[in-house]
Amino acid sequence: MTQPKIFITRLIPDLGLNLVKEHFLPSAWTQDMPPSREQLLERVRGVDGLLCLLTEKIDGELMDAAGPQLKVISSMSVGVDHIDVPAATVRGIPVGNTPGVLTDATADQAFALMLAAARRITEAERFLRAGKWVTWQPSLLLGADLVGATLGIVGFGRIGQAIAKRAQGFDLRVIYHSPNAEPAYGAQPVDLDTLLHESDFVSINVPLKAETRHLVNAKFLAKMKPSAILVNTARGGVLDQNALYDALKANRIFAAALDVTDPEPLPMDCPLLELENCIIVPHLGSASKKTRDMMSLLAAQNLIAGLKGERLPHCVNPQVYG
Ligand code: GLV
Repeated sequence: MTQPKIFITRLIPDLGLNLVKEHFLPSAWTQDMPPSREQLLERVRGVDGLLCLLTEKIDGELMDAAGPQLKVISSMSVGVDHIDVPAATVRGIPVGNTPGVLTDATADQAFALMLAAARRITEAERFLRAGKWVTWQPSLLLGADLVGATLGIVGFGRIGQAIAKRAQGFDLRVIYHSPNAEPAYGAQPVDLDTLLHESDFVSINVPLKAETRHLVNAKFLAKMKPSAILVNTARGGVLDQNALYDALKANRIFAAALDVTDPEPLPMDCPLLELENCIIVPHLGSASKKTRDMMSLLAAQNLIAGLKGERLPHCVNPQVYG
């Protein structure tokens, strides 16, 4: 039997890479920067299996460039908005993702950002490094309390629920808006307007889809409390960054903390970077060693199953199995 041809779009952690190597002879992109579109179209030609990251746009054109033998697309991410899943489905190609293993790391990141924005940690550190700390002052860099505050979670899936679980330990009241999600960890379901009017913290945890693009827009922000803090660990495209800039600049909300932006990386001339009340970090929600190891393992397992003609352990388009 001829060896299947496999392309891995970046060096993934050894745990996953070695598992793939136990079964097959993959070819991997070894540079730190992702392949360009042209390089990607070239390298996927004739592959049976593709293991990609969220930095690659995997659309119908790319699937056709790979060819009709393409059996599986496995992404080392839980989000699959970089993949045209319907295009894969019509071609009968299963798409794999890595749910579950990054839930806790991402919920931790949401909490780290909430606390950092509430207590103005990054602003305070810049203040200190600029040599501005001259004395202890009763009203220096005052922030917001978590105890007794209301946290509104938009999107109550795995990560939203893990955030609610953590919120119990901080004595936060938790409300959420999410169609069809059952209450958990003491969180109460509410409509979106109620959530925006009542929340001191708003955490965005919905996947990016046509219906969630720019869900957080000027209207959404106008319904938030002037003292409220917005945290986004979902996808940059869920948020209209121009509207956020206007709201933060005019102090219509207190602060925002973003793990994700649109585009990524964020251009250094983005006006949000001028604001003291906006924290931005480079998409690190799942960035713990253990989590990335586990993500690579799940991505490898999906790839191997697809190449063997078996059902992917984590498949986002199970319709391909009829
Ligand atoms: C990270 O954002 C992921 O989707 O895995």
